[in-house]
Amino acid sequence: MNTQILSTKDKDIKIAASILKAGGLVAIPTETVYGLAANAFCEKAVKKIFIAKGRPQDNPLIVHISSLSELSQLCADIPEYARPVIERFWPGPLTILFKKSPQVNDTVTCGLDSIAVRFPSHPVAQTIIRAAGVPLAAPSANLSGRPSTTTFNHVLEDLDGKIDAIVDGGDCQVGLESTVLDLRIRPPRILRPGGTTVEELQEVLPDLIIDPAVYHSLPPESAPPSPGMKYRHYAPKSPVVIVQGPEDRVISYIRSKAGPDCGILCYNENINLFPTGIVVAYGSRQDIANLAHNLFDRLRRFDETPVRMIFAQCPDETGIGLAISNRLNKAAGFQVIRV
Ligand code: TXA
Ligand code: MG
Repeated sequence: MNTQILSTKDKDIKIAASILKAGGLVAIPTETVYGLAANAFCEKAVKKIFIAKGRPQDNPLIVHISSLSELSQLCADIPEYARPVIERFWPGPLTILFKKSPQVNDTVTCGLDSIAVRFPSHPVAQTIIRAAGVPLAAPSANLSGRPSTTTFNHVLEDLDGKIDAIVDGGDCQVGLESTVLDLRIRPPRILRPGGTTVEELQEVLPDLIIDPAVYHSLPPESAPPSPGMKYRHYAPKSPVVIVQGPEDRVISYIRSKAGPDCGILCYNENINLFPTGIVVAYGSRQDIANLAHNLFDRLRRFDETPVRMIFAQCPDETGIGLAISNRLNKAAGFQVIRV
């Protein structure tokens, strides 16, 4: 398949919309990561997403909207206490689970009775949804098991030749996926930490809880509340080992263990402290938003090198640090060395 490269100019957005209307697949920029979009009401189109990504058949998709009026086609019930959350955080990097409307095809939700909905804040994403005239089902636009795509080149790397078009919207601002919040139950529960922080959500939802699967690996054969939790997502080709503790001890531990065939994912401040190994910095420890922005790009860079394993410095779990830590932990299979 020849994958068309589209810009964000009006004439190209029209082309993207017509491909989507005709049941094709278009990778689109959002403020979190690139999404691989299809008409959410076209089963044939949605099925193609699973094939293009190599996505497991039991991992449901997020449906993206560009106005609140689209919610009633997707959800059977919008609880009253969802209103202040929607008002405060949409559009933005927050995905909300609702009870699914029977109108929504089971292919989107993998037969679950819930539906994940997101209203992205990226102006290009909004324009494309509006032009397509339908909500768009869109998982992250990466091959299943690889880190999500946060630049146009990442999408090209993973999906060129497999999808109809890619809209080049430059780099995604957040760099990590949206927060997934289950609002069907009380207390409300975070299933995946992401671009909207726990601290921000707690201002509106003081009884918010975080699902244990955010912190720990799930026992095999368990049925997680969000199917995506059980996959070793966000994984570079080599295993990651997180080294945690006071920074000087983390640095001496990595220095003592890292051989020339090891990768080291570190803060900018420490880039010159590792004499052996392939050293990649992902931002200043003072700027965790920037660490989040760069994380997937740097993990992908290691895939171009022959490293056997990757030692990683990881920020603490405040703010977006929780999402960074969750993605690194998933890449590490929750193996952490404490020093
Ligand atoms: O930022 C994002 O959320 C990006 C952009 C493109 O919007 N999308 C994204 O989609 O990260 P994806 O498919 O890579 O991750 C969606 C996560 C998966 O872990 C999936 O299992 C979960 O949301 N999910 C989707 N629908 C669900 C449902 N009905 N119940 C529970 N979990 C659901
Ligand atoms: Mg994904």
